Amino acid sequence: MAHESGSVRHNESGLPIEPVYGPEALDGWDPQQRLGVPGDYPFTRGVYPSMYTGRPWTMRQYAGFGTARESNARYRQLIAHGTTGLSVAFDLPTQMGHDSDTPIASGEVGKVGVAIDSVEDMRVLFGGIPLDKVSTSMTINAPAALLLLLYQLVAEEEGVAADQLNGTIQNDVLKEYIARGTYIFPPQPSLRLIADIFQYCRAEIPRWNTISISGYHMAEAGASPVQEIAFTLANGIAYVRTAVAAGMDVDDFAPRLSFFFVSRTTLLEEVAKFRAARRIWARVMREEFGAKNPKSLMLRFHTQTAGVQLTAQQPEVNLARVTVQGLAAVLGGTQSLHTNSFDEAIALPTDKSARLALRTQQVLAYETDVTATVDPFAGSYAVESMTDEVEEAAVALMRRVEDMGGAVAAIERGFQKEEIERNAYRIAQETDAGERVVVGVNRFQLDEEEPYEPLRVDPAIEAQQTERLAVLRDRRNARAVSAALGDLRKAAEGTDNVLPPMREALRARATVGEVCNALREVWGTYVPTDAF
Ligand code: 3HC
Repeated sequence: MAHESGSVRHNESGLPIEPVYGPEALDGWDPQQRLGVPGDYPFTRGVYPSMYTGRPWTMRQYAGFGTARESNARYRQLIAHGTTGLSVAFDLPTQMGHDSDTPIASGEVGKVGVAIDSVEDMRVLFGGIPLDKVSTSMTINAPAALLLLLYQLVAEEEGVAADQLNGTIQNDVLKEYIARGTYIFPPQPSLRLIADIFQYCRAEIPRWNTISISGYHMAEAGASPVQEIAFTLANGIAYVRTAVAAGMDVDDFAPRLSFFFVSRTTLLEEVAKFRAARRIWARVMREEFGAKNPKSLMLRFHTQTAGVQLTAQQPEVNLARVTVQGLAAVLGGTQSLHTNSFDEAIALPTDKSARLALRTQQVLAYETDVTATVDPFAGSYAVESMTDEVEEAAVALMRRVEDMGGAVAAIERGFQKEEIERNAYRIAQETDAGERVVVGVNRFQLDEEEPYEPLRVDPAIEAQQTERLAVLRDRRNARAVSAALGDLRKAAEGTDNVLPPMREALRARATVGEVCNALREVWGTYVPTDAF
């Protein structure tokens, strides 16, 4: 919410919002050069010519908790309610490459997502779901290669060829060093592994989106819209440079890059942010990397409504926030959308709140007219001015990162983290001072909050997972596992692509933790040089 201090209001990026925009705002402004037509360079108006008039965005609700069986039930429920894409949340031990039965995993197994230790769990997770018909996003970063290979192994068991598989792995470790923190290996081996994934998917799983370069978590950590797209696109440039340096032609992998942003309640600025991001990326890919394939120039993205703007106070008010945020993503041209459940600031969504979140998207898609025409804000004095201003500020911030030697060098100096924390502090101060209104929190409060019964994860999940691991280790061929892990270590020590030996180790029932430990032995683990 733009804070209310003085006459001229400022947006979330600190740029002034004019009370009235008139024709002079677009003096000398060339629509052909600034906009193009939908589906054409510079893609300001959207990546496809028809956008939602051709196909609505994918309704892709992020879900996962407890055991693979419980999460599988939630996915089948969401499919039954009309969701059109899957999105898997993994628990922290899985995200950090630890098995459920290790001491470090204790208390976290199945908590913020589903526990996946092996191909056995992955098979249960997707039981009864046709993997040649759904597209599945997996929010997994450091061990992204493992979860992709487990998905491929399960599909293979069901007779679905790898080149039929469609989905995304987040696989964006750079933002983990900046925010969120689920990294394992140091930056250079992490970038090598990401380049290996690009090469492997180009050869084996060509319809797979190999990375979801994310601004969402930086936004949740306090980044402004300009910081969110500037730091995300700078990370994207680092990934492209890594793959090109590894010998790939930019058009061989760029069409399968994807992005992930937040959508805040400040709708106008968010629409401007998405339109500016597409235009910046298209220009960078054409001018800096010489990409020729139009698909290499398209910034295709997923959006999640802003979790950090949900309130625990009067949680039903979040339904209004999520609706506005979802509308912002749609008016901004998102390809895929997750709408938060209204109770997520309190606990895991219940079946009813998860269904309501999906229904919100269905109202936007089927009861409003926003899918009837492409990029309705095109030519708007206000939104085109905001798009230009957000773009200009984001490009300037990207240049500062570039002057430090690029995203990795800036991360190692703590630059992005420090800039985001400074903005987070400003937001907190404005909220505490009441300048920034949060309905139900610092204005329009209730004298007494009404009781709410949240969903709870069964604590027995840890024992169940430990038992499953004991059975798996007992039944597998230990010598085959040990030999396969040895092959993986050898590949990691050399320059061969690590995914084929990794796949064979997982096929032999090596666990997620064992595979990650083999790589930890060779590559070490990242210890942040905290700049503070
Ligand atoms: N005209 C022509 N073709 C169209 C079209 C149109 N109007 N609309 C769609 N299509 C085609 C596309 O070309 C595509 O075909 P292709 O696969 O052959 O290229 C197909 O229809 C599907 O369309 P999209 O690819 O646009 O949509 P998807 O939903 O399949 O993919 C994506 C969207 C952004 C590219 C993909 O990367 C994706 O799904 N990302 C999701 C990421 C995600 O869910 N992340 C969750 C993170 S939660 C998290 O981080 C944790 C927590 O902390 C928040």
